[in-house]
Amino acid sequence: MKHSGDADLSVLAERAAHKAYAPYSGFRVGAALITAQGATYAGCNVENASFPVGCCAERNAIAAAVAAEGPQMRLTAIAVAALDPTGEAVACAPCGACRQAILEFGPSARVTFRTGDEDQVTVEAQALLPGAFSFGQVSQRPKV
Ligand code: THU
Repeated sequence: MKHSGDADLSVLAERAAHKAYAPYSGFRVGAALITAQGATYAGCNVENASFPVGCCAERNAIAAAVAAEGPQMRLTAIAVAALDPTGEAVACAPCGACRQAILEFGPSARVTFRTGDEDQVTVEAQALLPGAFSFGQVSQRPKV
């Protein structure tokens, strides 16, 4: 379900994408989230010459939220936006690692991202990662 607040969150995500440090991929990503307390935080991808050291926008936004609110922080919604090297807004779904990170703080959180030229979707976090990792249990049996 689409909430009017999610459109605002997408604007904040795109604003954060403009701040990204992505000299290696040229792919700038921003994320903006709203917490259960009603506060908003943003993050952008920050790359590194040692490539695996770089971190995604979503996890940087989550880190900002936890740093501000502490370990009880819970996600209500998160939006992702990406810019190609020319500054054009492009599709970007959260990567697998970020899906796991989002799930940790908000299994029912609304996740909004662009899927095409004009298309945006909003889906529940848990729908994005069936069978996610959890200590000692698998929530959904994988099809083999
Ligand atoms: N990236 C994100 O920030 N979030 C994602 O969910 C996918 C990928 C970043 C990581 C890297 O800096 C660049 O996009 C290209 O992979």
